[in-house]
Formats: sequence, structure tokens, C-alpha cells
Amino acid sequence: MSGILDGKIALITGGTGGIGKATCKRLTKMGARVVSTYLGESKAVEMREQMKEQGCNIAIYPCDVSDFDQCQALADNIQNDIGPVDIVVNNAGITRDTTMKKMTAEQWQAVINNNLNSVFNVTRAFIESMLERQTGRVVNISSINGQKGQFGQANYSAAKAGIHGFTMALAQEVARKGITVNTVSPGYIATEMVMAVPEEVRNQIIAQIPVWRLGKPEEIAALIGFLASEDAAFITGANFAANGGQHMH
Ligand code: CAA
Repeated sequence: MSGILDGKIALITGGTGGIGKATCKRLTKMGARVVSTYLGESKAVEMREQMKEQGCNIAIYPCDVSDFDQCQALADNIQNDIGPVDIVVNNAGITRDTTMKKMTAEQWQAVINNNLNSVFNVTRAFIESMLERQTGRVVNISSINGQKGQFGQANYSAAKAGIHGFTMALAQEVARKGITVNTVSPGYIATEMVMAVPEEVRNQIIAQIPVWRLGKPEEIAALIGFLASEDAAFITGANFAANGGQHMH
């Protein structure tokens, strides 16, 4: 596996979460120089220490991906400090679960800004350089709940469904320039986000997963690693479900 991404620079947003961390490790192992973003200083320090302990050397930049100008500044800083980014993994995301009758405008907007507008903000900041160099990989992390909808997640399901529309449109625009754009739609993975779902509700969800368990972050990272590689050059505009069989279509 080592060497497949030698010389490549990969940006993974939301590197402090479960899937983000596993992806940072996977792409590092594959030879990429990995850069990640963080929002909170304390999480960044924790992440740097954990990654170092595990022999994973990544660069971390502060960035609120829901802010367009911060994403532009991020692109300039990475370009100046490290070089041009070849792989963008739009992974950062949040939940604000609640039923529609209780959902506030803030809960709606926070999820749309962090989960969907962020994909535009980050991709927009890096796509011109990829087009100029005629090479690139964009992997957008959506969710099973963008594919099937989820009780209590009108905001999250809307944002995650929107991500794949973005993928399909951009894939068509950049295909002839050697850039692929794909979506990965994880099911319920053993991360802090899923562990925040009340235990009783979570157990009901696990009972609906044919493989009878939560997914592992590493299982999603492996798929992202493949899509980021040269071997995946003919795959674009696709949406990959990795959900233990919970939703098949
Ligand atoms: N389908 C139908 N009815 C449901 C239901 C479902 N899936 N879930 C709950 N209900 C019913 C309850 O039985 C209850 O009915 P009664 O009023 O008749 O007793 C009613 O809805 C509860 O409604 P409330 O408005 O009072 O809801 P609540 O405040 O108790 O909780 C919730 C609602 C916060 C959405 C809670 O159900 C929940 O956390 N659900 C899980 C949501 C979820 O799966 N989130 C995923 C997070 S992880 C992630 O997002 C990662 C990823 O990509 C997969």
C-alpha cells in the first residue's frame, strides 16, 4: 500500500472526527503528505498528540469550513507552506438532530453551512489549481441518511443529499481535466457522532443493519484511499454506499 500516493498532498477536512482521523492515517500510510483542518484549539492539540504517538505526521491548519474567506486563506497557506493540493476529502460535518416541529432556524442553518456550504467553500478554493495542473481527486463524504432520509434529521439529510448533487455536477465539469469527483455515503460508523445518539435509539438502528454491527472508521478510510488513487481514474460522479447492507438501492 505504501507508495501509491507518494508525492501527493491530501487535505482532509474535519480530521479530528472518527472517519477524518482514520482517513488521515490511511492516506499517510499510502504515502501522501496529509493536511487537516480543525476548528477548536483543544481538539487540535489532542489530535496532534494522538497522531504523533501513532507515528502519523500530519499538518493541521485552523479553518472554519463554513466560512468562504477562511477556506480561501487555507488554500493560500497550504500552497505557500506545503504545495499544491492533489486530493480533497470533504469530511467535516455536524449533527443537530431534532424533529421538524422543534427545529430552530439556527439548527437548520448550522447543518447546511457546515455540511453542504462547506463542500462548496473548500472545493472552490482548491479546484482552480487542480484544473491548471490537470490532476485531482475530490471525495465528498455524504451519508446513508442523505440517501434514505432519517427521522429527526431533516437538516442533515438535506445537506447530505445535496452533496451528491454537487458531486455529479462537478464531476461532469472537470472530467476532461483528469479530476474525479465522487461521494462516499457511510452508514452508522462507530464514531463520537453516532455514539451521541441515545443508546436505546442506537440499538434499534443496529438491529436494522444486516451485518449486525456498526461500521469501523477504517472501513470508510479504505474506500476513500482507493478513490484517491490512480487506480480509480475511471470512476467519477459515483456514490459509494458503505453501510453494512442497511440501505440497498
Ligand atoms: N420513526 C417513526 N417514529 C419515530 C422514530 C422513527 N425512526 N423515532 C422516534 N419516533 C417517534 C417516537 O416513538 C415518539 O413517538 P410518541 O410521541 O408517539 O411516543 C416520537 O417519535 C418522538 O418524537 P419527539 O419529537 O419527542 O422526539 P425526541 O425528542 O424524543 O427525539 C430524535 C427525536 C432526537 C430525532 C431521536 O429520535 C434521535 O436521536 N434519533 C436518531 C437520529 C439519528 O439516527 N441520527 C443519526 C446521527 S449519526 C449520523 O448522522 C451519522 C450518519 O451519517 C449516519
